[in-house]
Amino acid sequence: MLIKKAPQLHTAQVFAPTNIAMIKYWGKRDSQLNLPVTSSLSITLPEHGTNTKISLINDANDVVILNNTPLSADSHFYQKIIKFIDIFRLGNEKFCIETVNNIPTAAGLASSASGFAALTLTLNEIYQHQLSNQQLSIIARTGSGSACRSLWNGFVLWQKGNAKDGSDSFAFPLDMSWPELRIGIHYIETQQKSISSRDAMNLTTKTSPLYCAWPNAVAQHLDEIQQAIIAKDFIRFGEIAEQNALTMHATMQAASPPIYFSTPETLNEMIKIWELRKSGIPIYFTQDAGPNLKLLFTAEYEAIIKQYFPELEIITPFDEGIAT
Ligand code: DP6
Repeated sequence: MLIKKAPQLHTAQVFAPTNIAMIKYWGKRDSQLNLPVTSSLSITLPEHGTNTKISLINDANDVVILNNTPLSADSHFYQKIIKFIDIFRLGNEKFCIETVNNIPTAAGLASSASGFAALTLTLNEIYQHQLSNQQLSIIARTGSGSACRSLWNGFVLWQKGNAKDGSDSFAFPLDMSWPELRIGIHYIETQQKSISSRDAMNLTTKTSPLYCAWPNAVAQHLDEIQQAIIAKDFIRFGEIAEQNALTMHATMQAASPPIYFSTPETLNEMIKIWELRKSGIPIYFTQDAGPNLKLLFTAEYEAIIKQYFPELEIITPFDEGIAT
């Protein structure tokens, strides 16, 4: 797809935001190309993500520096980045890649989404390819599936596509906005997770007897959540997002061996959210491949929710002036 050429700039630097799926991507029909079994829908977290700087160097090997720490050439992450750069690399050019996440790395907070989106954008810049957003989304997807949704702000839909080569599996922004919507990042643990999303997904699709229910559930959730967004029906929106996350976790808990990302504290916090709901506060959560929760609520309840979760990092995804 890419007609290779020599790098046109000496250095380039780009930021890409991360995204949180309201309807999750869980399971691949092709794990080389990261082609998903289902479509998915996310919200971008503006200003939370990855800053990547790439510079040409005269060394024999690429240098990768993640969060100010040089990576060893035999580490999995180094290898993954080099393989990705090879999509663009014409000949023997070598780079120093400095990448800084302002969100915890690999703790289920989707740093791989912003990481591969930033890497794609920076490579596009240094080689001056001027690729379309659709092409960039396809390339970012091959680094990490969720990265294909990290090229825009707001609501983003990743259509699963059907083509074997992945040419119709890319994301695009939805022309929908919800300025009152809030996402609260509830950090429970920020350490590296015990199993990667990739391995957890593969194990789930291979061994979970519940996985067969997932594609139909997602199709229905996708349809309903878009209706809820259009109608600004927050209760419906929250119900679907929470149910989708819990359905995803149910599929993996039934895998063999089981995959369990929640800690006792995660469960305690879920119970607290359900209790708050019973008391009349419209609050929901979503959970990715880690123990942390992302709380969903509206501006009207921000002050009261802050009292119950004083440590919460509250994000306004549809702040004024953010183009989608
Ligand atoms: C639970 O995109 O990290 O966050 O394609 O293997 O890199 P790979 O997986 P990744 O998986 C994200 C899983 C999720 C749900 C989602 O973001 O849709």
